[in-house]
Parts: sequence; structure tokens; C-alpha cells
Amino acid sequence: MLPADLSGVVSIESGSYSHPWSLRQFEGSLTAGHDCHVACPADDPQDVLGYAVTMTGAGECHLLNITVRRDVRRGGLARWMLAHLMDSARAQGCQAIWLEVREGNAPAIALYERAGFVAVGRRRGYYPALRGREDALLMTLTFSAEWPRTTDPLQPPSPHPPDAMDH
Ligand SMILES: CC(C)(COP(=O)(O)OP(=O)(O)OC[C@H]1O[C@@H](n2cnc3c(N)ncnc32)[C@H](O)[C@@H]1OP(=O)(O)O)[C@@H](O)C(=O)NCCC(=O)NCCS
Repeated sequence: MLPADLSGVVSIESGSYSHPWSLRQFEGSLTAGHDCHVACPADDPQDVLGYAVTMTGAGECHLLNITVRRDVRRGGLARWMLAHLMDSARAQGCQAIWLEVREGNAPAIALYERAGFVAVGRRRGYYPALRGREDALLMTLTFSAEWPRTTDPLQPPSPHPPDAMDH
């Protein structure tokens, strides 16, 4: 993710969440040195289809944000990005990935469970909600010694494989 990507990122973000990250939060993530990725079509690196932000340290990776543009959802892009993040975290020596997800976010929970994450806790009132607060599920995936699993069905999506997810 580059500063030039931020307008596309913030546009997707604001259309995806009741309480979206602000431009300043994305800028802060870049400044802090978090791993900030965008996924784009190979022939148009300025067309942001999705993005993810992770924070890595002390042998663990924390997934802070993963979002796919509405018009390209259900095409396998989030699964592909998650696989990319797992490989990257593993390559950086992480033993596990952690994340929080709203307990009512069924699509995201399904995505994570399908990728092998398990819920290990609950953070009460973690998120602001339209009325009051909403709990977060704390989920984790611990890498096994044989990772990556050769039988894992994670595949790049088609027909528009986002070849670029490297900045
Ligand atoms: C959650 C999100 C990232 C999924 O992105 P996506 O590219 O559509 O997901 P994929 O196509 O890769 O789907 C992978 C798996 O996730 C699950 N999934 C994704 N969307 C789903 C939905 N709407 N309903 C049920 N399961 C869903 C399915 O298990 C799916 O596998 P399948 O297609 O073989 O059934 C996307 O819906 C999104 O950006 N939502 C808003 C932002 C958000 O909630 N981010 C997560 C914050 S914790």
C-alpha cells in the first residue's frame, strides 16, 4: 500500500463498515511500519480491489483489517489475501495469527473458519455499534510444523487474479 492507494482504500473502507477506519488511521499504519497490502489487477495497479493490514512482532501476527470491494466479493479474493498473509507471517517467523471480529459479522467469521482459524475468546463491548457496543470474537490460527498444508484448497481467484499484492 502506497500513499497513492489511500483514496481508493478509504473509499472501499467507508462503504464497508458502520465504523470505518479514517484516512488518518491508514496513514498511521503506514507510518508505524505495519504491513499494509493492496490487491490490484495485474494490468491496473491503481485499481484497488481489496487490502489488508497486519502488525507483526514477538513471533505473532495480528490481522488488523481485511476488506474486499463490494463488487468483487465472493470471488475468492479475501481467501487469497489471507493465504498470502499467512505465508508472509510464516516467512517472518510467526507461530500464530490473531484477529478480532464482530460477533455479528457472519461472512468474515466464515472466511476465517474456512481458513483454519478458531475462536478462543470474546472481548465484551470491544466495538462501537449503531446502538451501544458489540462483542468481538478473538480468533487465532497456529501454524503447524508442516505449514503450508499441501492439501489446503486455497487458490488465487479467477477470472481476475490480483497478481499485485506487494506494496
Ligand atoms: C469478509 C470479506 C473480507 C470476504 O471477502 P470475499 O472476497 O467476498 O471472500 P471470499 O470470496 O474469499 O470467500 C471466502 C470464504 O469466506 C466465506 N464468506 C465470504 N463471504 C461470505 C458471505 N457473504 N456469507 C457467508 N460466507 C462468506 C465463505 O466461506 C467463502 O468461501 P466459499 O466462497 O467457498 O463459500 C468481505 O465480505 C468484506 O470485505 N466485508 C466487509 C469488511 C469486513 O467485514 N472485513 C472483516 C473484518 S474482521
